[in-house]
Amino acid sequence: MVYLTRKEHFNAAHKLYNAAWSIEKNEMMFGACANENWHGHNYDLYVTIKGEPDVNTGFIMDVKVFSKIIKEYAVDKLDHKNLNLDVDFMKGKMCSTENLAMAIWQEIEPHLPKNVTLHCIKLYETARIYVEYFGE
Ligand code: NI
Repeated sequence: MVYLTRKEHFNAAHKLYNAAWSIEKNEMMFGACANENWHGHNYDLYVTIKGEPDVNTGFIMDVKVFSKIIKEYAVDKLDHKNLNLDVDFMKGKMCSTENLAMAIWQEIEPHLPKNVTLHCIKLYETARIYVEYFGE
């Protein structure tokens, strides 16, 4: 079994805000991420698949096709967008990095060829903070 990772990058705005809470409680919980007029993050996205290398190519998957799937179903929908307002698959969810990683998994997984398995969505919100989602 071999693991293959594609790294992508996107910039997006968001706000973390629980409407059931007071402004003070939101600011206490979410800090700068509760800023009323939005703010941005530079996200780094690592998508890892696993599989067996094909006898004829030595690849587990054509990386051009892999890259195209990630771009079409995740990056193009997220880059330079407002996660709370513009992204269909984040509607009604808290736009945390955790929820975003899980949603990206749901968007990408159905489009991968059957001979590979999605292994991990790793999403950096800052250079020092990232989440990993393994589909469970
Ligand atoms: Ni934030």
